[in-house]
Amino acid sequence: MKVERFVAQQHGDSRGQLVALEENKEIPFDIKRVYYIYDTLSGVRRGFHAHKKLKQLLICVHGSCKILLDDGKEKENVVLDKPFEGIFIESNMWREMYDFSPDAVLLVLASEVYDEADYIRNYDKFLEYVNNQ
Ligand code: TYD
Repeated sequence: MKVERFVAQQHGDSRGQLVALEENKEIPFDIKRVYYIYDTLSGVRRGFHAHKKLKQLLICVHGSCKILLDDGKEKENVVLDKPFEGIFIESNMWREMYDFSPDAVLLVLASEVYDEADYIRNYDKFLEYVNNQ
């Protein structure tokens, strides 16, 4: 599997760093939703779903966490630990997030508003869905 990594341009100067993300520029979709996950308790694993349509960019803007990506054929684990690096997750990709550091803030930019109908939350149903694409 080829994980689509994202490296943002850092606008650094003597004062520090700044990253800017614009829809359809650095981010290859309209940004319809932003959410972030923080204060994740030790040992927690979350996600456990895929999306039929949604595209997302994940950046761990503080601390670190790991992401398991599974396209139904291959699995890959990715570490996110820099505020200027992320991964794009296309539709039809099972994901699990784990190993959050206590200070982790996982920022997600999403191409669609929240829609429970877009979720596939059962792994067997996910395999069935991707194999029928
Ligand atoms: P959940 O889907 O369990 O998060 P994860 O997939 O990261 O484990 O979401 C937790 C709660 O937040 C759940 O009640 C749904 C709600 N939620 C929203 O209201 N809007 C959103 O954009 C997201 C991602 C979740």
